[in-house]
Amino acid sequence: MDAHVVEWLNLTVRWIHFITGIAWIGSSFYFNWLENALNKQGLREGIAGNLWAIHGGGFYYLEKYKVAPKVIPKTLHWFKYEAYFTWISGFALLIIVYYYNAGVYMVDSDSSTHPALAVLLGIGSLIVGWFIYDTMCKTPLINKPVLFTLVGFLIVVAISYYLTQMLSSRAAYLHVGAMLGTCMAANVFLVIIPSQKKLVESAKQGKEPDAVQGRKAFLRSLHNNYMTLPVLFIMISNHFPSTYGNEFNWAVLAGLFVVGTGVRHYYNLLGKGQNAFWILPAAVVGMIGLAMVTKPPPAHQLAGGRQIEFSEAQALISKRCVSCHSANPTDKVFVVAPKGVMFDTPDQIVQHQDKIFIQAVTTKVMPLGNTTFITEEEREIIGAWIQQGAIIE
Ligand code: HEC
Repeated sequence: MDAHVVEWLNLTVRWIHFITGIAWIGSSFYFNWLENALNKQGLREGIAGNLWAIHGGGFYYLEKYKVAPKVIPKTLHWFKYEAYFTWISGFALLIIVYYYNAGVYMVDSDSSTHPALAVLLGIGSLIVGWFIYDTMCKTPLINKPVLFTLVGFLIVVAISYYLTQMLSSRAAYLHVGAMLGTCMAANVFLVIIPSQKKLVESAKQGKEPDAVQGRKAFLRSLHNNYMTLPVLFIMISNHFPSTYGNEFNWAVLAGLFVVGTGVRHYYNLLGKGQNAFWILPAAVVGMIGLAMVTKPPPAHQLAGGRQIEFSEAQALISKRCVSCHSANPTDKVFVVAPKGVMFDTPDQIVQHQDKIFIQAVTTKVMPLGNTTFITEEEREIIGAWIQQGAIIE
């Protein structure tokens, strides 16, 4: 397919993914907040809580039923399509960006994993992740929230570790996020919506609705709520090579998980009237700690401190980078300079020196998938030239 068409397809699907994702997470946040904020005093028979709110210049009054109303209203609003479309558009993006160019995005050129195997592993992780999580929910573990969280966390870390060893670091990160996102969407599709359908069905037949169904849906939706912040983080981390480009990227991910889930927990407790304020400074300390451990060690003298001429560095950049980063790229996949970053002239190279250092010397995430086969020595030479002041004369 024409690379320009792929680019527009990518943009359009990404846009859809964003919009549906915002709608989904927004409603997830809203309903969790609603649940926690319900007034539980002085209620009518059969009511679990009520709430007044003002928004957009209007007053709203809501009631939550303990199980179900006697008569199911004709118009009942369901919240499911935002979840389905977020997953579908997300999976489409995986295909368009990652699987379509698996040789560049899924693996590094020096990896022993075949790109096709990498795609299978990626898709497999989504299925296996759901299978493990769903099985865990069906064991007595589900009644022990602390243990459940701990076991779940360790499994995610183990899978992250495995994926970072098999796939390119970016693909590994993204697939951990996609795996959790798949659990969330499958929770909606396979558990929450079917449970709710059963509730509606029994209410319609005048039977006592099974409270177990309601409880089941409630727990899955609570899990989804906790997964939101880590998943969102992983999705944006793809633009920050100091996370996935780190040597211990799986451990960085684990740390970010703890922070993300912790902050979510703070808000959930706050909603219930408990102010576990310590979580916020702890999260700040956690983020600062992560920023510190991901900081590259003070660069030793690269290339053995040898004085590097600009012509030498420029020749390497031309050979290893300009096939993509140019006004006229020769790469088959990237027909427009990625992110507008070009290294055609000395000035452009000097202007981007800090980014070149991060991308090609410390985190080594560039060249993408190392499709241009840069060597360690060459990275050091480019790095040394920047260290020595990036002088072009
Ligand atoms: C196969 C194509 C390809 C090659 C070769 C390549 N890059 Fe990139 N580069 C990309 C893509 C794609 C992006 C955009 C990544 C993204 O979406 O975050 C990018 C982004 C960048 C950025 C911008 C990062 C940012 O977040 O602003 C820099 C800087 C960069 N590359 C440097 C280099 C250097 C230095 C080399 C050579 C050592 C190189 N690239 C080789 C494809 C390539």
